[in-house]
Amino acid sequence: MLRRVIFSEESILVANVNGKLYAISCTHHGAPLNDGELDHDVVICPWHGGKAINPTPIMDLPVFEVLTKESDVLPKKR
Ligand code: FES
Repeated sequence: MLRRVIFSEESILVANVNGKLYAISCTHHGAPLNDGELDHDVVICPWHGGKAINPTPIMDLPVFEVLTKESDVLPKKR
């Protein structure tokens, strides 16, 4: 499951991978990662087909810790 959430005016992707929530964002081009695909634990960007992992990307995407409170998802910048 891929969902887009807005946190502090930033578009963040929340992915459910085997019941655990992960959150990342694309800051270099602002791709709508929720329109991509989840292939096991890899998010395939809808704009460039996941090429960020091969060849090696020049920088990592921002990663957020994901806290949940009842039905709310609360990303927290690491
Ligand atoms: S444009 Fe940023 S991950 Fe694809």
